[in-house]
Amino acid sequence: MCGIVGYIGNREATPLIVEGLKKLEYRGYDSAGVAVINSDNKLQIAKAKGRLANLEKELEIDGLSGVIGIGHTRWATHGVPSKLNSHPHLNTKKTIAVVHNGIIENYMELRKFLRENGYEFITDTDTEVIPNLIDFYYNGDLVEAVTEATKKLRGGYAFGVISVDEPDKLVAVRKDCPLIVGLKEGGNFIASDIPAVLNETRDVYFIEDDEIVVLTKDSVKILTEDGKEVNRDVYHVTWNADAAEKGGYDHFMLKEIFEQPKVTRDTMTSRIALGEDITLDKINLTTEQLKSFSKIYIVACGTAYHAGLIGKYAIEKLAKIPVEVDIASEFRYRDPLINEKTLLIVISQSGETADTLAAMRLAKKKGARVIAVTNVVGSTVSREADDVFYTWAGPEIAVASTKAYTTQLVAMYIIALYLAQHMKTISNSEIEELKKALIELPEKEEEILKNAEKIKKHAEKVSKENDVFYLGRGFDYAVAMEGSLKLKEISYIHSEAYAGGELKHGPIALIEDGTVVIALASQESLFEKMVSNIKEVKTRGAYVISVAMEGKTAIEDTSDEVIYLPRVNPVLAPIATVIPLQLLSYYIAIIKGCDVDKPRNLAKSVTVE
Ligand code: G6P
Repeated sequence: MCGIVGYIGNREATPLIVEGLKKLEYRGYDSAGVAVINSDNKLQIAKAKGRLANLEKELEIDGLSGVIGIGHTRWATHGVPSKLNSHPHLNTKKTIAVVHNGIIENYMELRKFLRENGYEFITDTDTEVIPNLIDFYYNGDLVEAVTEATKKLRGGYAFGVISVDEPDKLVAVRKDCPLIVGLKEGGNFIASDIPAVLNETRDVYFIEDDEIVVLTKDSVKILTEDGKEVNRDVYHVTWNADAAEKGGYDHFMLKEIFEQPKVTRDTMTSRIALGEDITLDKINLTTEQLKSFSKIYIVACGTAYHAGLIGKYAIEKLAKIPVEVDIASEFRYRDPLINEKTLLIVISQSGETADTLAAMRLAKKKGARVIAVTNVVGSTVSREADDVFYTWAGPEIAVASTKAYTTQLVAMYIIALYLAQHMKTISNSEIEELKKALIELPEKEEEILKNAEKIKKHAEKVSKENDVFYLGRGFDYAVAMEGSLKLKEISYIHSEAYAGGELKHGPIALIEDGTVVIALASQESLFEKMVSNIKEVKTRGAYVISVAMEGKTAIEDTSDEVIYLPRVNPVLAPIATVIPLQLLSYYIAIIKGCDVDKPRNLAKSVTVE
């Protein structure tokens, strides 16, 4: 997600800001920009689409100069990646500049209000409301104006502000997005993360939610939203920059696994609320259109395909529409039956996977309506699809997908509920019950993650295996496939996933003394059948690690080890069940000394057929 850096002091701000932004590149970005106030008290801006090197070229031409400035790397959410949409953004009068990380959920409403008050908007961003709102409240006191404006903002954000009316001050605000202050004699910094300031200082303040921080070149004041000054201890950073980019985690993959409660929440926010209809702002389908679809195809590759399998179960169960899930590279060459009554859902984290793109283009040509589920705003898939559902997972850096998968599952559930709501295939109370269970999911994910150490204990045994089997029924079968893929991808151990009932039709011949079988039994209605399948492998010598809901202790009789999960609605269980499987694969790969974040032969985004 976006990165923020700001500086006020005795030195030229631009080079310090650009160096800081370089240290935030790991967050992922698609454009960048800087604003400084020069000695004539004018705002000077440079922006560029693409890498920071492009911004540096602009800076060579524009030669910004000033001792106060703010900079930004943008990971597009509202509006495509472009020079125009990149930050900093200004108020209509061009006196205030803002860099922002996060999402202003009520920006449409604020835009309307500001337009009515004579403000103009030139970008597609949600951010542009911030400088204008600050301007609206400005009455000779920047801190007061920022405080008033902040009270009107909804969503999660961190932003930095400079104004030509008070060029001796840099003001910043935090709510649900990271913000730190770097302290140095002769100048102070704001940043989204510590690496941005580590070349200059190791002394930082962590800013907390709903706090406003006011920097001058030789002072830093932290205020609560009602203006009271807060005393904060200085934190002295002892770790190196590389570790900090991973937020203290050893690998991006682990960091991303641990980010899952947050991104689950982010993907739901503004889409579902109890007692309110589900609204999907970038899906423009009427009930009549939805009713006209006789079939849904879900098409994707890799992990996204596995999310599609869960989507099929969810849509068929809740919206009662037949769904076929296909691997994109198969779909495009098998002459699929498509017409105007077909709805195609493509799932792609990157939005650039060549086969997924080709499948989408083929379906569109034959008259299908296309909804894209993607994590990248402005990606090809998002531009070419008719409708888009953005998963707000933030940039995923580890090649093996974890948090993007979880948000794809959230997307599938919300789309299934959205269809059910329009088709009236389940009752309102059932919809409300599922929404409530979804809203409670991040807490359950957090509980599972707290037990990471327990899961680690199973890794030693599995790391010595050459073949591992994953079993599951229903939703668990689809999760078993994803668990098996994670193990292959990062630990290079051969593994297979089978439907519990299919085992005796062949694969059971492979079970011998000590063969590791990971059995998923999260589904209440299939629990006993799953226990029978586990018995079948156990009696043939398998070493069974089961995953079950709390309280289902009957599984202990047929398992060598059990990983218990907090109870969740069975339909939503995949979001919980997959987490121990991701962690297990991660710990196994570590024991084997594998390159977890960049496994051999794999690419994060496969843009060739
Ligand atoms: C590659 C990645 C996988 C990913 C797949 C689909 O194989 O290594 O992690 O699931 O592509 O990528 P997409 O960006 O379309 O979701």
